[in-house]
Amino acid sequence: MEVVISQASREDFPAMIQLADLTLPDRMNVHELKKYFELFPELIFKGTHNGELIGFCCAGINMYQTTGWLMFSSVAEGFRGRGIGKRFIETRLLALKQFPHLREVLVTVGETNFSSIRALESFGFRLRYIDKDYYGPGKSRKILELPASSLPLPNALLSKSNTAIDGSDFHKIPVHNL
Ligand SMILES: CC(C)(COP(=O)(O)OP(=O)(O)OC[C@H]1O[C@@H](n2cnc3c(N)ncnc32)[C@H](O)[C@@H]1OP(=O)(O)O)[C@@H](O)C(=O)NCCC(=O)NCCS
Repeated sequence: MEVVISQASREDFPAMIQLADLTLPDRMNVHELKKYFELFPELIFKGTHNGELIGFCCAGINMYQTTGWLMFSSVAEGFRGRGIGKRFIETRLLALKQFPHLREVLVTVGETNFSSIRALESFGFRLRYIDKDYYGPGKSRKILELPASSLPLPNALLSKSNTAIDGSDFHKIPVHNL
């Protein structure tokens, strides 16, 4: 099964929102997506299978371009557990790596989002702190961090058997030197 990861565009909005609504309905809407596109047009990626959108992810960076953020990711239910979430993490880390002053990458994750936490930890992310009640009473978030010195090399995932989904080219991303 070939899943191609490439930059998303405005034409992908409806499919992206439809997918986000199925997974984290309270977290993403079309207005937020528009803001992401205005701020970080080159940090939003989609995964497609036979031309259909089966996932997407967003990253951002602070105004000093020193702290990158992994902001959102979603993989359609039937495609989970096949390494696509990890490819989304790697794709965004490699895109953030293009910023010369990058010092660290941070990510927010719900305390019980075990698949996300496990995927992030496999890239070296470690807990920085826990933000109590961030999502409402009793619902905390974890902030994980990865120093820029620990960012992956391109194609690092190819060496891991569970992520080379079809043995074909890993990334087909039309942006600078990913
Ligand atoms: C989080 C999400 C993007 C992960 O996508 P995915 O394609 O399934 O991720 P991967 O296949 O790369 O798996 C990542 C890790 O999670 C593990 N995993 C998968 N399903 C799991 C589950 N139900 N419980 C625990 N771990 C699980 C995998 O084994 C893998 O770890 P490993 O390689 O060390 O074994 C996907 O589950 C999703 O869209 N969730 C809903 C939206 C969401 O929570 N987004 C993240 C916050 S914005």
